[in-house]
Order: sequence, then C-alpha cells, then structure tokens
Amino acid sequence: MSNYKTTYARSLAEPEAYWAEQAEQLHWDRRWDRVLDDSRPPFYRWFPGGRLNTCYNALDRHVDGGRAEQAALIYDSPLTGTIKTFTYRELRDAVALFAGALRAQGVQTGDRVVIYMPMVPEAAIAMLACARIGAVHSVVFGGFAAPELAKRIDDAKPSLIVAASCGIEPGRVLAYKPLLDQAIDLSTHKPARCILLQRPQCAATLVAGRDIDWQDALAGATPADCVSVAATDPLYVLYTSGTTGKPKGVVRDHGGHAVALVHSMNTVYDTKPGEVFWAASDVGWVVGHAYIVYGPLLQGCTTVMYEGKPVGTPDAGAFWRVISQHRVKTFFTAPTAFRAIKKEDPRGELLQQYDLSHFKALYLAGERSDPDTIVWAQQQLRVPVIDNWWQTELGSPAIANCRGIEAMPVKPGSATVSVPGYDIRVLDAAGLEAEAGEIGNLAIKLPLPPGTLPTLWHNDEGYRDTYLSRYPGYYLAGDAGYVDADGYWWVMSRIDDIINVAGHRLSTGAMEEALSGHPAVAECAVIGVADAMKGQLPLGLVVLKAGVSRDPDELGRELVERVRAQIGAVAAFKQVAVVSRLPKTRSGKVLRATMRAIADSAPYNAPATIDDPKTLEEIAVALKSLGYAKQ
Ligand code: COA
Ligand code: AMP
Repeated sequence: MSNYKTTYARSLAEPEAYWAEQAEQLHWDRRWDRVLDDSRPPFYRWFPGGRLNTCYNALDRHVDGGRAEQAALIYDSPLTGTIKTFTYRELRDAVALFAGALRAQGVQTGDRVVIYMPMVPEAAIAMLACARIGAVHSVVFGGFAAPELAKRIDDAKPSLIVAASCGIEPGRVLAYKPLLDQAIDLSTHKPARCILLQRPQCAATLVAGRDIDWQDALAGATPADCVSVAATDPLYVLYTSGTTGKPKGVVRDHGGHAVALVHSMNTVYDTKPGEVFWAASDVGWVVGHAYIVYGPLLQGCTTVMYEGKPVGTPDAGAFWRVISQHRVKTFFTAPTAFRAIKKEDPRGELLQQYDLSHFKALYLAGERSDPDTIVWAQQQLRVPVIDNWWQTELGSPAIANCRGIEAMPVKPGSATVSVPGYDIRVLDAAGLEAEAGEIGNLAIKLPLPPGTLPTLWHNDEGYRDTYLSRYPGYYLAGDAGYVDADGYWWVMSRIDDIINVAGHRLSTGAMEEALSGHPAVAECAVIGVADAMKGQLPLGLVVLKAGVSRDPDELGRELVERVRAQIGAVAAFKQVAVVSRLPKTRSGKVLRATMRAIADSAPYNAPATIDDPKTLEEIAVALKSLGYAKQ
C-alpha cells in the first residue's frame, strides 16, 4: 500500500498543494486566488477567485486538443433500437446550439433550468448547454411523479424546464408531458418556458405561449460561446431524499466538481483519455451526473448512454453486448443490476457469446455490495470488481479501491479505503472515535474535499442542521459502518429513515406523507425490508381512523396507487398491511427499527421505553401475512 499510503497522507497533510496539482489538469480562464477559503467555517469554498467553464473543459478543450473526431458519447437504446455516436465536435456543436436556444428563450447566467428527461442524448446536451452559459441545471429523475417534480420546481424556481414527451420502459411508453403539466399546475412557481423534445413514440401537446418544440427552439438559435464563471458558482442542484418528505437540494460548484471528477477518473476509476467508460445508471441520479456526463467527458473519454435494463432488453446478456460492441474498458453499475442478471443467467452462459477483451474493471456503488454478488461477478467476468462508497452530497467516491494509485486486495463486502482528500472517522453517540472493528456513525472531518456540497440550495441552515450539527467539525454521512485493522471500510446501513431500493435512495418519510393523506388513515409507518433482488423494499403499516371499516385489499390497492401517484413508480411501494396500533415508545416515537428487525427476522431488543410490548406481536403477525418475519 505504499503508493496509496503516501498519496493519501499527503492529501491530508498538504490539501492545498494536493488539490492545486489536480486542478492543473483543467483549463482555467483565471487562476484561483486561494486553493481553499476556510475563513467561514463550517462553510468552506475551493478555488475562490478562479474562473472556468465546465462545458469548455468537457468538450471544447478536447476538440481544440485533437479529440474532435473521437467519439464523445455513444447513445445505445435497446428500448428504441437506436445506436448513435456523437464525436466531440458533434457534441460540442449540438451543445453550443442548444445553449443558444436556451439564451434565445431568455435563460440567463445563474438562472435555474429543470431537466425532466429519460436517457436520451438530449438530456446530456441540455445539461452541458446549461453549464456552457452558466445556468444552473436541476435534473429530476423520470421515475418521479408530478408532486415530487412540483416540489423541486418550487425549490429551484427554474426560469425554464426542458422535458421530453415520454420515457420508455420495457413494454410501455410513459408520457412525461401530462406529468409535467400537472407538476406546473401544482407548483407555486411557474416557469416562463418549457422546451419539449418530441420523441417519435409519443407526441406531447404543447401549451401555447409557454411550450416550444425542441426543434423549433433550435431553428431560431445561434450557437452560444462558453461563459466564464466563478469556480464557486453553482453548476447544478440535485435533489436527494432526506428523512422528511422535502427533498434536499444538493449544490455542486463548477471548480471543485471538475477537479474532483478528473481526480476520480484517474485515481479511482483508472480510466485515461481516449478510453471508453460506461455507467449504467440514469442522468437523474448523481452517478449519471458524474459518470455518464461530466466525469468521462472532462477526462476526454468516450461515455456510453444506455437506455435499457440489465435484463429483458432483450436478455440478461445486454450488458455484455454493450461492453463488447463499444469496447468498454470501465463499467459502473449498481449491485442490484448484477443480482437481476445472476437470477436470469446464474451460470453466465450469455457472457460466452461476447468478446470482452477490452473490459478491465467493474465498479459497483449506490448500495451496499453484498459479498455473494461481488464473488459471482468476479467469477463470471474475471476482472477486478470494485465496490465504492459515496453519496449525492459528496459527488464522487469517498471510499474505494484507488486502482489508479495502487490496486489493493479486494475484501468482498468492504468498499476498501478512504479516497485521498477524505478524512473519515467512526464516531460513537458521544462523539468519541470507535476502535477498529467497532460499528458507529461515519463522519468526515471538515473541510470536505473539492466537489462535495458547499451547502444546500438557498438553505445554509438546513445544511448545518442536517450534516454538521451532530458532531462539530465533522460532516455526518448518515451511514453506519466500521474500519478494520487494515484500514478497510465496511459500510453497513443507514442510521436514518432513508431506504435504498434497487440502488435508488428513497425517503420513507415521503411515503408516510402520501399514506397519511388517505382519508381512511389515522397514522402509518413505512419501513425498508430486506429484499434479495432490490436490497430493500418499502412496506407500509397503517392504522385506520376510528370507526372506519374498509376492505383491506381494496384499501391496499388505493394506498399503493397513492404512493405511485405522489412519489412515482420508482418507489416500488407495493406492500401494505392494516394494524390496530403502531409500536411506540412512551414518548410516542414509532419503533421503525424494531419493526424492520422483526420483518427481516434479525435479532432485536424491544426498547425498555416501549409503551406496550404486545403491539409487536400484532406487527409480527401482519408482517408474516406479507411473507416476512419468518422466524
Ligand atoms: N421513468 C419512469 N418509470 C421508471 C423509470 C423511469 N426512468 N425507471 C424505473 N421506472 C419504473 C419501472 O418501470 C417500475 O415500474 P413498475 O412498478 O410499474 O414495474 C418501477 O419504476 C421500479 O423500477 P426498477 O427499480 O427499475 O425495478 P424493475 O423491477 O423494473 O427492475 C432492476 C429491476 C434491478 C432491473 C432495476 O432496478 C435496475 O436496473 N436497477 C439498476 C439500478 C441503477 O442503475 N441505479 C442507479 C444508481 S447507481
Ligand atoms: P445516493 O445519494 O443516492 O448516492 O445514496 C447514497 C447512499 O447509498 C449512501 O449514504 C449509502 O447509504 C448507500 N450507498 C451508496 N454506495 C454504497 C456502498 N458502496 N456501500 C454501502 N452503501 C452505499
């Protein structure tokens, strides 16, 4: 570990020198005055005084530097039967033209633009076009329903929304426009304009005076040049689930973000300019921002944008087909995708049909990688399988096997070691550091490295309260884990009510809000129960209002439909049971962790403060009726 150890130690001992060196890899219009501004703790800023443009660094710099004819983005869509390649020049030109279209529609530097699109190249074009003119994009995942979109519109207050007429899921076309219209009806803030990409699978009806067709917007536009922005200006706001129903607007700045992503492409992903990088995620998630769009392009790689699934489009060999056809060197996805493939093709027979000789490493993140999945992937693929831990808030990996510095032995179930720049600790309830092997709360010593959230959108207080108040001088990650005697990290679970469903981060609080709005429901709890495929699944327990009597199946259907309509299909909320009471402490706190342990047949101790231990018996019966709590 000597290379890694030296690099890591230096990143903490001399952070300014370390990050200044990384920053040299980018083009700056004006050099920073200081590397780190630490004059206003706990708020820190990287590269103040520096000016640059993220889109210039991701596209124009490579066009000017000899990569004009190299593939920048390959769109591969088994769902529509399309493969389309954009060279760096073509992508730069498309982005510049769309940036001109945004300008022509009145978007100014600093304005927000909400992007509600499926996995089509125009989503990346819209993001990069915002970056080009210094507008702040906020991408909303297509699987979210109208009320979730409305919450984000109200917080980000976009002057314009870019959307597509539809998304495509296996076997069905999902019209996005009615959801967009409904969201704008629900939101208090009204965007002045919407640009609509009409996909051939479904035509959207445009609202006169507000909506404009993507092609018409381009027709009147002239290409826009890159605007120089401050390194500390926001590039994007990405909303992520918190413990309440109100999503948190994670802010990402231009300078630190670009530096951190190029750093991670080298140190963690070991992928060089000209090589092909594929992240099978969605532009609506942080993985999509970082490793479908910005990271590979800032690094001068070819990125693959895949509109398909791991299985069923057309089969469990889909990933191998894409890796082989596009000569992917580095592939990134969520463990759940591998569990889905393993279920359909346990012996990896479909793999044999493809030449994977260019494929060098698989990276898994988004949820805990269970050792079985890692070992299966290792055996099938015969390349390193690398777990890496991070969060929307951090923007790039904080724990990983830093193969670009020095490859370390893999311990399945551990995400390996701290990435340079991250000083991670395990703290107990009193804020004391835990011994090796002892589980506790993961906390990161401030200042966080470049690329991490400087704050929440227009909400410094929320940033402080959620992340910085529990342990002064540290960022609270919200995960529990431990470090072993070799310095390897083991991230085991969340410490709050956020659940992870198929690599998607969801708030049980938001689902509870949706359930409590039903006229028959007096109170409810949503817990995340273990699921072999998706990691976790949400499960609702509801108590009916006094005097209300309902057919449980019919009520169940209404509640499931309610969560789907308010949060979206992505919540995968399909299980609900009616109980007469929820287990609580004497002070009225609902015992969600105890119910989760019962569901998962895990050992638990009912807290001494429980109001009535008998409530747990009824919960166990209800959970058994849904196929849980088997022991
Ligand atoms: N727009 C609209 N709906 C969407 C959507 C989108 N972009 N993405 C998913 N959905 C819908 C699905 O159609 C499904 O609806 P259904 O309940 O009517 O079937 C629901 O949301 C749940 O979707 P998903 O989580 O994809 O489950 P699945 O059962 O369809 O597929 C997997 C299971 C494992 C194949 C899938 O979860 C997967 O590919 N996971 C990889 C996760 C990933 O890339 N995570 C990103 C973080 S790195
Ligand atoms: P998101 O912000 O959507 O990327 O979700 C971040 C959360 O997902 C983390 O706080 C963890 O709970 C979980 N997570 C992501 N990657 C890993 C990993 N490699 N191991 C364990 N948990 C992970």
